[in-house]
Amino acid sequence: PEQREELKARIKRLLKEKQAVLVSHYYVDADLQDLAEETGGCVSDSLEMARFGRDHPAKTLIVAGVRFMGETAKILSPEKRILMPDLDATCSLDLGCPADEFAAYCDAHPDRTVVVYANTSAAVKARADWMVTSSIGLDIVRHLHEQGKKILWAPDKHLGSYIQKQTGADMLLWQGSCLVHDEFKGVELELLKAQYPHAKILVHPESPANVVALADVVGSTTQIINAAVESDCDTFIVATDNGILHKMRAAAPGKRFIEAPTAGNSATCKSCAHCPWMAMNGLQNLADLLENMDGSSANEIHVDPEIGKQAVTSITRMLDFAA
Ligand code: 13P
Ligand code: SF4
Repeated sequence: PEQREELKARIKRLLKEKQAVLVSHYYVDADLQDLAEETGGCVSDSLEMARFGRDHPAKTLIVAGVRFMGETAKILSPEKRILMPDLDATCSLDLGCPADEFAAYCDAHPDRTVVVYANTSAAVKARADWMVTSSIGLDIVRHLHEQGKKILWAPDKHLGSYIQKQTGADMLLWQGSCLVHDEFKGVELELLKAQYPHAKILVHPESPANVVALADVVGSTTQIINAAVESDCDTFIVATDNGILHKMRAAAPGKRFIEAPTAGNSATCKSCAHCPWMAMNGLQNLADLLENMDGSSANEIHVDPEIGKQAVTSITRMLDFAA
C-alpha cells in the first residue's frame, strides 16, 4: 500500500510538472479514476471524455481507457499531444469491425445513413455520417428515423437491436459484440432478482437482449451511475464492467451494488465482468509514461491527418447534437 501511495504522489507531481491532464473512464483502475478527479481531469463515460478532451486547454492529455478513446481525443484536437499508458488497450468491438470490410459493407448499401458506435477505429469513423456513444445513440437514431432515414449501424449488434426496438427505425446491423457485456446471462439474472426482489436492475446496452429486457434502467456508464444516485431504491444489480462499482459506491454511499451474473460468475468468482483492455491501465505504467514522455513518443496516439479530417465530421455531429 505504501508503494501505491508513493506512486500516486509521484503521478500527481508529474502531471503538474508536465502540464498534462488525466482523463479516465469508469472501467479503469479505481486509483486512476480518483487521480483524474483529484488533479483537475475527469472521470466519465465516453461522450463526456470526448467533450472534456476537446474543450480543455491543456496541450497534453493522458487518456486512461482504451484506444478508441485516445483516437477520438486526437481527432477532435489534432494539435494536442494524446498519450495512453498502453497503446495495445483495444476493444473487441473495434477489432470486430475492420475498416476495409466495413467500407465494402457501406458501399453495398449507399442508400443508408451510416451510424457508428464510438468503439471503432478512426478509419471506420471516417467512413461514417454519425458517430454515437451509448448515452446518445438512441436519441440520434430516433432523430434520423423521424427524418425518414434508413440506417446502417455498426458494430455492436446488441446496442443496435436495442435502439432498433426502441425507435422502430430501419436498421441494418453489423454483428459485433463486447466480450465483457456479451457474457451477462438473462436466466441467471432472473434468479438473482428473485433473491433481491426489491433491487433495481441497471444495464449497459451492450448486453444481450434478454438481459436488457430485465432492466429498470438502460444507459451509458454515467447514466447508470446517475440512476443509482437519484433512485429511492437502496439495492441495485449492475450489468456492466465492475470497474464502475468504485464510482457508484462513492456517489451513492450506503446503497448496495451487486454484480449481475456472467457465464463464469459463481459464488467463487465475483469479478468476471472486467474488460481486459481497460485493465491494461495502471499506476505503474502511468507513472512511467509521465516520467519518459519528453524524450519518447512510444505512448503517443497518432491518427493519419487525412483520416482525422474525415472522422471529425461524424464525431462533431454527435457533440453538436448533444450540446
Ligand atoms: P460508455 O460510453 O457508456 O462509458 O461505454 C463505453 C464502453 O466501452 C462500454 O463498454
Ligand atoms: Fe470494448 Fe467492451 Fe472493453 Fe468497453 S468493455 S472497451 S466495449 S471490450
